[in-house]
Amino acid sequence: MNLFGKHLLTTQEWSVSEIEAVLGLADEMKKDRFSSKYTSLLLHKTFFMFFYNPSVRTRQSFECAATELGGHAQFLEPSSMRLKTSKSAGETNEDAAKVMSRYACGLGIRMLEDKVQKYGDGDAFLREYCQYGAIPVLSMAHDKYHPCQGFADVQGAREHLGGISGKKLLMVWGHGALARSWCSVQESILINSRLGMNVTLAYPKGYDLDPEVIANCKKNCQAAGTKFEITNDPVECYRGADIVYSRNWMSPHAYDPVEGFQKKREVEAALKHAEWITDSKKMAVTNNALYTHPMPVDRGHEVSDEVCSGPRSIIYDVAENRLHVQKAIMALTMSKFDYKPSGKSASKKHGVAA
Ligand code: CP
Repeated sequence: MNLFGKHLLTTQEWSVSEIEAVLGLADEMKKDRFSSKYTSLLLHKTFFMFFYNPSVRTRQSFECAATELGGHAQFLEPSSMRLKTSKSAGETNEDAAKVMSRYACGLGIRMLEDKVQKYGDGDAFLREYCQYGAIPVLSMAHDKYHPCQGFADVQGAREHLGGISGKKLLMVWGHGALARSWCSVQESILINSRLGMNVTLAYPKGYDLDPEVIANCKKNCQAAGTKFEITNDPVECYRGADIVYSRNWMSPHAYDPVEGFQKKREVEAALKHAEWITDSKKMAVTNNALYTHPMPVDRGHEVSDEVCSGPRSIIYDVAENRLHVQKAIMALTMSKFDYKPSGKSASKKHGVAA
């Protein structure tokens, strides 16, 4: 399989066989990291990384991924490019996308909650680059989705559980001192429901996610014959979970029509829900669940240190997997590499045909 030129804004827009190709290749690349099969796939090619927000994992893992494929990842700071914004004159997205396409083999963009006027603007921004550019656009986390994180989550869960189909994912809100975007949690419930997991989404009243994403999760579960449920109970939701993923996320009222993202207000409101923390007592009623989180972790709020650094935590494996899945995505979308699964992949093929 080859996906040359394909954009990646969310895994929901890819077929299950395309998702499985990334996961299978990522497993093979992880096992044989510096094999000559892979080290020249992006030889002399450049991947642009357009960061509106800071990052530890995404920037470092993409830079390493490009190096390990023989290419180069170039960090771009929007503030140094005279781009047009709603508040200032400058170069349009159309012109910038067309010019960047003349230089690079791919373009990654990160645009999170505080860099948009309202929810959905980041997604629209990435889609404009897809429309005008001639190279694949990858989301490096935007206000709606974080597809690379979703792939890494699944790779990590399969490595530890052997297969995820029919297992229960608990996606649980955590109180916290950071007001986080919806991108990681929305991507995770989408890809995991797509690949056959039962999904329980738990949060205090007032923290609903994007209704379009919820509708898609329901459809995914319906197609897979699995269960999707939403609860506001911070304790019972843990019962029988195979994977617990805790994360703070903003409320749907986080944006003021004039002032934009209201971080201070969101943090103050979130900190009132101290019972929403993943701790050992709650983990005790799970099915000896794995603990995962996309990081950076807000320890002591989203999760206790004991759970986060405990024997069932897979947070560092998942963080490492960002490198392997991104190498697979870049190889498939930015080179003519024709991937043929070896059949020895660690990923279990429990996907729901779609
Ligand atoms: N999970 C994740 O995207 O981490 P960074 O924000 O550090 O890139």
